[in-house]
Amino acid sequence: MAELAELVGVLKAAGEGTRVRLLALLADGDHSVKDLTEILNQSQPRVSRHLKLLADAGLVRRNAEGAWAYYGLAQQGDGAELAAWLIARLDENDTERRRDIARQAAVRESQQAQASAYFATVASSWDLLKTLQVPEEAVEAAVVAALGGRKVETLIDLGTGTGRMLEVLAGSYRHGFGVDSSREMLAVARARLASAGIGQAQVRLGDIGDLDVSLGPAEVIVIHQVLHYFDDPGRMLAQARRLLAPGGTMLIVDFAPHDLEFLRSEHAHRRLGLSSAQMAGWAAAAGLTVAGVEEFPSANTERGLTVCLWRLSTPL
Ligand SMILES: C[S@@+](CC[C@H](N)C(=O)[O-])C[C@H]1O[C@@H](n2cnc3c(N)ncnc32)[C@H](O)[C@@H]1O
Repeated sequence: MAELAELVGVLKAAGEGTRVRLLALLADGDHSVKDLTEILNQSQPRVSRHLKLLADAGLVRRNAEGAWAYYGLAQQGDGAELAAWLIARLDENDTERRRDIARQAAVRESQQAQASAYFATVASSWDLLKTLQVPEEAVEAAVVAALGGRKVETLIDLGTGTGRMLEVLAGSYRHGFGVDSSREMLAVARARLASAGIGQAQVRLGDIGDLDVSLGPAEVIVIHQVLHYFDDPGRMLAQARRLLAPGGTMLIVDFAPHDLEFLRSEHAHRRLGLSSAQMAGWAAAAGLTVAGVEEFPSANTERGLTVCLWRLSTPL
């Protein structure tokens, strides 16, 4: 039960056109203020003011990351319930709503294009870049150990890049599929798999933000150093979940939260690491549970990044 003034506050915050549009946009995934400004075609101070009102009333949540802030729908409470009620009743064919949906798709496409352009330029030197950043060997050993020596029928590696995970886990699957949106990365992956004699794995071009379900089901899905390229990793996780077989395991490797802003400005990262609390929330929303987390601090204490391995599982 809430106090009268509190309830009126929530209703007032939601009771405005732009703010309802914002709620509907966030129902499809988290966005930065910059994205929302572009989608709504309104000034940044104006959009920030609307978002602040929504956040203060508990309709949305704010997550500050370095110089950026991400917004998403609140997960619980009166604000969350009111937002869900409103969104469920909003006509997707409403003219303004249709325009917002189209702009939201365009913003996502342009981000994807930026990431692809970056990966096209780093494809051939990617493995070198990786070894400069993280305790690679320990992480790879932990990924192999996480499967406990079992051999599964199908493993899917999302954002496979140069196919390193398909190589490292080659002994753990009968059929392996790697998906990536960069032709250049895939060219390196094909060469790598061929020279390692790994005939049971194939890689293909695809957008993992819009996954084809027919690729699954897989008993194991690997998402290695990919989620930080997405504004809304939770949305991506929910997509991946649709390909996971009952009782399956998802292995996610990514950076712990950090403040290296240059990774965003120079290396196409969108999120400055992911926290275990965020991961638990995204996993729960996708119907998964966090079965284990391991952390790997970098040997480079000045600019080093901690890497996390999350093991997510589905109910049987
Ligand atoms: C940092 S690399 C990691 C590659 C590989 N998983 C590894 O750890 O070696 C990230 C990869 O995600 C891919 N990627 C980013 N956004 C994608 C998308 N929407 N669909 C498919 N692949 C994507 C990039 O092309 C890139 O190869």
